[in-house]
Amino acid sequence: EEVLWNIDMIEKGGYKHFMLKEIHEQPQALLNLMRGRVDGNHGPIKLGGLINREKELLEAKRIIIIACGTSWHAGLVGEYMLEELVRLPVEVEYASEFRYRNPIIEKNTIVIAISQSGETADTLAAMRQAKGKGAAMLSICNVVGSSIAREAGSGIYLHIGPEIGVASTKAFTAQIAAFYLFSLYLLLLKNKDYAIPPEMISAIRTIPDKIQTILDREKEIGEIAKIYKDTNHALYLGRGFNYPVALEGALKLKEISYIHAEGYPAAEMKHGPIALIDKNMPVIFIATKDSTYGKILNNIEEVKSRGGKVIAIATEGDRKITEKVDHVFHIPETSGVLIPILSVIPLQLLAYHMAVLRGCDVDKPRNLAKSVTVE
Ligand code: G6P
Repeated sequence: EEVLWNIDMIEKGGYKHFMLKEIHEQPQALLNLMRGRVDGNHGPIKLGGLINREKELLEAKRIIIIACGTSWHAGLVGEYMLEELVRLPVEVEYASEFRYRNPIIEKNTIVIAISQSGETADTLAAMRQAKGKGAAMLSICNVVGSSIAREAGSGIYLHIGPEIGVASTKAFTAQIAAFYLFSLYLLLLKNKDYAIPPEMISAIRTIPDKIQTILDREKEIGEIAKIYKDTNHALYLGRGFNYPVALEGALKLKEISYIHAEGYPAAEMKHGPIALIDKNMPVIFIATKDSTYGKILNNIEEVKSRGGKVIAIATEGDRKITEKVDHVFHIPETSGVLIPILSVIPLQLLAYHMAVLRGCDVDKPRNLAKSVTVE
């Protein structure tokens, strides 16, 4: 009898690439991340890795997030989230910049290093620098026992299994989910009488199923990819919580398809990128129904009136936007702070399909490494 499967195929679980497997693993990955951590309808939120750090967390006046690459994008979402939900001042820094400055670290500053691999050299060096200046350290890592996790001493593990594709996918959505649990945990820690509203718990519990409904419509993204696969440039625009998603969408595309892509906060478009608009380059707007929706519709009109091609990621049921753009992909509704977990999924798929159509090796893109252990 014919052998239909080989080791390589088994490792990839029947998917053509690790990246595609990992994109599809996201519902399960987030369930694994939440397992045993989210109890009841009001909390508690159990983060075993933060035991014995309550005092420092209670006294924290400021948080500095350090990371590189996709983890830095997750850090930006984390910043917006902690500010919105916990009202703590947060800064996000590229580890490679932070470590070569002379950053000001006051008492009661907590530094959170984010790293999928836990081995990124710049992130590790930045942590050591901050520690030397007296900052308390935490990490959000995937790889258990990694250098960054050990250097931090405590933190939050993602528990999402190994990520092998060089382009990070499931780690990004899991890092955001980890920030959400961390935010709820801090709210409970700081306000003894606080009960988390049940909607905030159900918002994260329903995320895996919502991701699945997006993955089930992968074909729609494949069709869009076919139309734009030969483009040389792409522009990604988003506002608020979708601004880091625009950066991440552009990064995914350039990493694996070698198409030049830029992510921008949509309103900054008029300070430069608008000059690039022509009838060929796709402009990808992340235009979900949130507090910035009206503004982003205006930005879409600015692109359309200049003859640009627009692909919109929009909220389910939004028919108005369909009339304004060339292509639209709808995603389920969720709480504002969690939108990035959903809105990034079609962008991961778009990058993947464009790259495959261009014949690129998506799991091992040229010049890139899964973990960058050199400075
Ligand atoms: C490399 C990888 C990226 C990753 C970045 C940070 O550039 O190719 O996918 O986002 O390093 O890695 P880390 O393991 O620290 O999250």
